Amino acid sequence: MDLPQLRFGEKVATLPIIQGGMGVGISLSGLASAVAREGGVGVIAAAMIGMGEADISSNYREANIRALKQEIRKAKKKTDGILGVNIMVALTNFADMVKVSINEGVDVIFAGAGLPLHLPSFLPEGAKTKLFPIISSARAANILCRKWLSRFQYLPDGFVLEGPKAGGHLGFKEQEIEDKASSLEEILPKVLETVSEFEKKTGKKIPVIAAGGIFDGQDIHKFLSMGASGVQMGTRFVATEECDADQKFKEAFVQATEEDIEIIKSPVGLPGRAIKSPFLEDVKKGLRKPFKCPFQCVSTCDYTKSPYCIGMALMNAKKGFLQRGFAFAGKNVSRVREIVTVKELIACLREGYLKARSKIFF
Ligand SMILES: Cc1cc2nc3c(=O)[nH]c(=O)nc-3n(C[C@H](O)[C@H](O)[C@H](O)COP(=O)(O)O)c2cc1C
Repeated sequence: MDLPQLRFGEKVATLPIIQGGMGVGISLSGLASAVAREGGVGVIAAAMIGMGEADISSNYREANIRALKQEIRKAKKKTDGILGVNIMVALTNFADMVKVSINEGVDVIFAGAGLPLHLPSFLPEGAKTKLFPIISSARAANILCRKWLSRFQYLPDGFVLEGPKAGGHLGFKEQEIEDKASSLEEILPKVLETVSEFEKKTGKKIPVIAAGGIFDGQDIHKFLSMGASGVQMGTRFVATEECDADQKFKEAFVQATEEDIEIIKSPVGLPGRAIKSPFLEDVKKGLRKPFKCPFQCVSTCDYTKSPYCIGMALMNAKKGFLQRGFAFAGKNVSRVREIVTVKELIACLREGYLKARSKIFF
């Protein structure tokens, strides 16, 4: 038996693998379409997607709307597979990005970095777009299910449960990150239990997707065996030829050792896991000062106090100017050895999964 399918509503991905949305500009139409073509769920990251547009400073709102539309259309031209958009709740243009995604008919929206309490309000009658909040606890699953049911008579179409080994912003306090009680293995059963209560009450199936530190086929097997319906992976997909970041960004992933990883306090107001860089050293030494903010892209970022613009820093890194920014990465980045194609990565994950599965049965 092969890897199982991932079903949510009437959508069926032939692989239970979601490529995590990665901003700024790390997962655009190139990576998302390559993953969707292989049968997984390919995800475009909406965070500051208009950063490459000529009028981004003078016309921030329209530049982002235009860029997201273009990326979705480009991806759809390259694949008939399942495509999603990742939209951080903390983005000031969250509503714009959600509306564009729904209008362009994306299959699924993933919304994290905050609780997307009002997300179903954007869904017009008959819309086909599915809604997956990204959460880090059973409590968040419970709040979202209860509030969405009472306000919108709607339950999430699935959850991504992101544990503390993930790359990027983390939904944990700094002291929880290394705490065993916060591990994905500990929180997944609790989320499954919470979700199953709502499934029983309403008859709606709500798949839970495990994320954060999932590296190989054995990990996929482990979390599916625990009851997850799929996995979301970010770090592994950065080290692919199709990833939309500059080659230097991908090489930083191949070269990173365990010691190169650190937890930063992001201007977004959450801890984040990143690869150490001279830029982050300057921040720690107080060498970077608050700046004039042209975008106000994140509602939780106090740019009058923040020592740098996270949008610019991440955009610089995406373009390969790592001295002028930094790369987010998952805890397992030190295990990344080479840059491969998405096809090769999926084949390797499948092989590892089947191997782990056969060990259980023989
Ligand atoms: C470079 C990078 C950028 C990311 N950007 C986002 C983002 O914009 N929005 C989001 O919800 N998650 C973001 N993430 C998290 C991923 O979507 C994914 O859930 C996470 O990387 C999973 O952990 P893994 O990297 O260990 O596989 C990012 C992760 C990385 C590595």
